[in-house]
Amino acid sequence: MKQQLQNILHQVTKQAKDVKSLQDIEKLRVKFLGKKGELTGVLRGMGALSKEERPIIGKLANEVRESIETLIKQANEKLLSIEKNIQFKKEKLDVTMPGKTYEIGKKHPLTLVIEEVENVFLGLGYQIAEGPEIELVHYNFEALNIHEGHPARDEQDTFYIQPDVLLRTQTSPVQIRVMENTQPPIKIICPGRVYRSDAVDATHSPVFHQIEGLVVDKGITMGDLRGTLEVFAKSMFGENTNIRFRPHHFPFTEPSAEVDVSCWNCNGEGCKVCKGEGWVEILGAGMVHPKVLRNCGIDPEIYSGFAFGLGVERTAMGRFGIDDLRLLYENDVRFLQQF
Ligand code: DAH
Repeated sequence: MKQQLQNILHQVTKQAKDVKSLQDIEKLRVKFLGKKGELTGVLRGMGALSKEERPIIGKLANEVRESIETLIKQANEKLLSIEKNIQFKKEKLDVTMPGKTYEIGKKHPLTLVIEEVENVFLGLGYQIAEGPEIELVHYNFEALNIHEGHPARDEQDTFYIQPDVLLRTQTSPVQIRVMENTQPPIKIICPGRVYRSDAVDATHSPVFHQIEGLVVDKGITMGDLRGTLEVFAKSMFGENTNIRFRPHHFPFTEPSAEVDVSCWNCNGEGCKVCKGEGWVEILGAGMVHPKVLRNCGIDPEIYSGFAFGLGVERTAMGRFGIDDLRLLYENDVRFLQQF
């Protein structure tokens, strides 16, 4: 029996050296230590031993069991460390390899201008309002005092979806929608897309953007309009910017004006950007027509207001020195990367 035990230990020592996987180790354990394993088998035979032999063989059997357990444990550790090394090698990271670069997009110049204008007016306590691009003729024309047959309808010819539904030609209808639902004081700007059936060229596009402004309260005067636009022009184009009003006609404002800013490029001297004028037109403005206020349920005897409409494309082109409006819509990355 002593011999058998020593034999078992010898075999385990030998086989433990050859294990290649954790499964091999488990097989080895079951083979020698399992319920039907070889060591168990030997121990079962101990009943046949004499009283004197039993403690000696028992002690030896325990020692052999401990040795086997230690061998298995060692084999297990060795295997794990080998596997870990293999894994380390597999996952080895070459920090000198060039990394993947992800190109980060930029804001479109039109977005930049819209956000800049929004920031100026938010700073002045305005709120941002929006209206639908598919608009009723009533809001786009009628309520703005542009009746059927008015020449302004021709100038702003657009895409009709039904006889009384069109793609809005201006952001001015948002004025009406807001005034219908809000009692003064009102201080809003409305950025958005507008449509006209213009042929595409360097300064025209059938889709473009405007930012509308509207203030209605007690005692609002043309002086407030001028002061507001002056603050706006200076924050947009620089502290030295001046503005000038030229008399004009819009059906929904009275009096009305076209507003120019002194050229940001030449400071009014005259250059290519301002076509030698020293001034660049950027928006239309005026005092809200009493009829328009009345159309919206606001009493013009109590309230007055001013409004303005800014062309975003025109502002962006001036601001960034872009000489062809089509560049803004072609989405050529080489162009867009510059802003
Ligand atoms: N809606 C006008 C246009 O598209 C621009 C405009 C002019 C808006 C005067 C206004 C305004 O609010 O007061 O030509």
